[in-house]
Amino acid sequence: MITKIELLADDVHVHFNGENSEIFPNIWLRDHAKDEQNWDKRSSQRKTYTAALDLNLKVKKAEIIENGKYLSVSWPDLEKPVKYSSEFLSNNKIKKKKEIKSNLKIWKSNEIKEEIFLDYNSILSNEGFRNFLKNLHDYGFSVIKNCETNLKSVETIANKIGYVRNSIFGGLWSFESDENKADSAYTQEELRPHTDSTYSNDAPGLQLLLCCEYNAKGGESIMVDGLKIAETIKKENQLMYELMTKINIKGNYIGDGVYLEAERPIFKLNKNNEIVQVSFNNYDRAPFRFEKDLTLKFYEAIKKFDLIANNKDYQWRHILKPGELLIFNNWRILHGRGSFNGVRKMSGCYINKEDFDSSCKLNGIN
Ligand SMILES: [Fe+2]
Repeated sequence: MITKIELLADDVHVHFNGENSEIFPNIWLRDHAKDEQNWDKRSSQRKTYTAALDLNLKVKKAEIIENGKYLSVSWPDLEKPVKYSSEFLSNNKIKKKKEIKSNLKIWKSNEIKEEIFLDYNSILSNEGFRNFLKNLHDYGFSVIKNCETNLKSVETIANKIGYVRNSIFGGLWSFESDENKADSAYTQEELRPHTDSTYSNDAPGLQLLLCCEYNAKGGESIMVDGLKIAETIKKENQLMYELMTKINIKGNYIGDGVYLEAERPIFKLNKNNEIVQVSFNNYDRAPFRFEKDLTLKFYEAIKKFDLIANNKDYQWRHILKPGELLIFNNWRILHGRGSFNGVRKMSGCYINKEDFDSSCKLNGIN
């Protein structure tokens, strides 16, 4: 609730109940006018031609209305006064009093319980879907049981979250690892934990992997929480952690008619120093050159990271049975697969990170 306002030369000082206040520049308030003339409610798009505004514009009149629910401002270039809700202004303080706490559960393998397994039919209802999305958001992965073993079920789940992403591997894909085939793409050796597409500036957000046929020994799917690795390294060696948030590491994919390259730190931070993306793929790492000192520090860091990622305490392992679909956040969780003998047929697809985020926001999950 707004309790008091003061008009300054180029700003409006708004006081809220609870002894807090914020100074909003006139130009900012004018640019954020959400009346009919300046805002398209239907599309949530700005109609204001901001470049045409006078950067030094003054407030003609300002008052608190509806018992502090709104600030009403009359601008020299508009006929009608503009209403700004107390909630909108409060949400746009530069430093919010209480930062919203994320519900992320950062885990080691023994903290993963049965709740990560869900039934295909249970996620079809709105409530069930929200529950699944929350699970996926909080833990970074989930297993959906009792899926039909075909591409259609992969597509149905993908379309509930966002849409299938196209990539060099196509949209929906199927692959088979078969010991009778010689090509390395059908390898049955252990795949150490990694994130996909370190060679892409916008790595896929989610990966879906459905087991369609399993007639083999071994081949566990491996999940490792990249945020837990970060937490461990930060605790044990702050300088090493900082290096891993700053040094860009390049990944590449050369072949199949493409030459893809991208680079970012292992732990990419936002402006609040929170990790927004974990990237680690020793298979796809491109050649690099640093000064000698940094080279040694860099190798110490990736050694530390990879040793933790391969520590069984950090690895959740599970053999996917036919009809089980593993879905994980590729910006957080590293995935791998144990070695195996026999035949294993999988289907899957990628979904963009922004579409996963969008689905979470629409469902009130953070
Ligand atoms: Fe992978």
